[in-house]
Amino acid sequence: MLAGRRILLIIGGGIAAYKALELIRLLRTEGASVVPVLTRAGAEFVTPLSVSALAGEKVFQDLFDLTDEAEMGHIQLSRAADLVVVAPATANLMARLAAGLAPDLASTLLLATDKPVLMAPAMNVRMWEHPATRRNCTTLAADGVRFIGPDSGPMACGEFGPGRMAEPPAIRDAIAATLGDGPLTGRHVLVTSGPTHEPIDPVRYIANRSSGAQGAALAAALRDLGARVTFVTGPATVPPPSGVEVVRVETAAEMLEAVQARLPVDAAVFAAAVADWRVRSAAGQKIKKGSAGPPVLEMAENPDILATVAHMTDGRPGLVVGFAAETEHVVDHATAKRARKGCDWIVANDVSADTGIMGGAENAVTLITGEGAETWPRLPKPEVARRLALRLAEALSAPR
Ligand code: CTP
Repeated sequence: MLAGRRILLIIGGGIAAYKALELIRLLRTEGASVVPVLTRAGAEFVTPLSVSALAGEKVFQDLFDLTDEAEMGHIQLSRAADLVVVAPATANLMARLAAGLAPDLASTLLLATDKPVLMAPAMNVRMWEHPATRRNCTTLAADGVRFIGPDSGPMACGEFGPGRMAEPPAIRDAIAATLGDGPLTGRHVLVTSGPTHEPIDPVRYIANRSSGAQGAALAAALRDLGARVTFVTGPATVPPPSGVEVVRVETAAEMLEAVQARLPVDAAVFAAAVADWRVRSAAGQKIKKGSAGPPVLEMAENPDILATVAHMTDGRPGLVVGFAAETEHVVDHATAKRARKGCDWIVANDVSADTGIMGGAENAVTLITGEGAETWPRLPKPEVARRLALRLAEALSAPR
């Protein structure tokens, strides 16, 4: 996948720097060469010796190392690579590039390069969520910088949330995708996500507890394997990932229309928690309290988006994947659902309140395919997404 590629790897100063060593090993196993740059802070976490031993290359550390300047100027160093990767990308390093500052070798290389830049952020959750870091991310993304991660989970500092650096295999895949060598490069995948809101009147609606986390993670994982992703999302609380085409809808009917308008695609994954019913005729004005007592809502069934697409005879996606949210007899109900809806795979999960899955950070799923049911361990949602995206890539590349 990466044979002959040359990666300039900037290792910033964070506890996640140790994972950069594993990344170097993975990249070299694939046949890529890695030219490492270690920041001053990075060298507090991993030694230049271990970095150079794994990379099999000299480590560049100092902007004013005159020998290096004579052998290979920083301009040349920044351009001889196919891709510049920053892992871990600290808040400070991101801020320096966002502001166009170049006080050291790493930031000078980032400013001087004419090659794509991929950053794997790693920092404390408060730092990641700070408005300054949010601003810097937006600026960098607008400048063309790509991101992989961060993941959510327990952090070295004892806090919990987004900020953990993506795992080395995920970074390796994102590198391949950025270089146009991803297993889903050239594929178009549609993902539905989030809840739908079904209006009762102009101010009230029927909804569900879906946060859109699993759908967003899936869209990001597919993107990171090189897919072109169309992300049709209801009003979710988790924001859509960058680098995907986002189509925002409110109701199930709008979601169906948006999906149909974007076909054909190579694969479609229906992760949305679509409301099964809508109010037959939503009131045009706010319903007022009155002597008649509470209103009685007459419901109508919503279109089943997954079943509609899975049963298409013309232009059906090559692979149609549904989710099954169940609270009991998960595998039995999901297996029946797969048959009823006509989809190829069903990702079943137990959304009983005590699992904490709906709206939570983790998911425990069983993948049901034509070959049977496969139960995965409970994993963070991004990891479930990554596994599913890899399976999807495998299925799409298999001869039919
Ligand atoms: N789905 C859909 N359109 C609907 C309802 C569901 O596309 N109107 C999709 C979901 O995105 C998911 C799958 O169908 O991929 C199963 O959703 P789920 O809520 O588990 O199933 P239901 O259709 O509601 O079936 P049941 O009421 O039996 O649980």
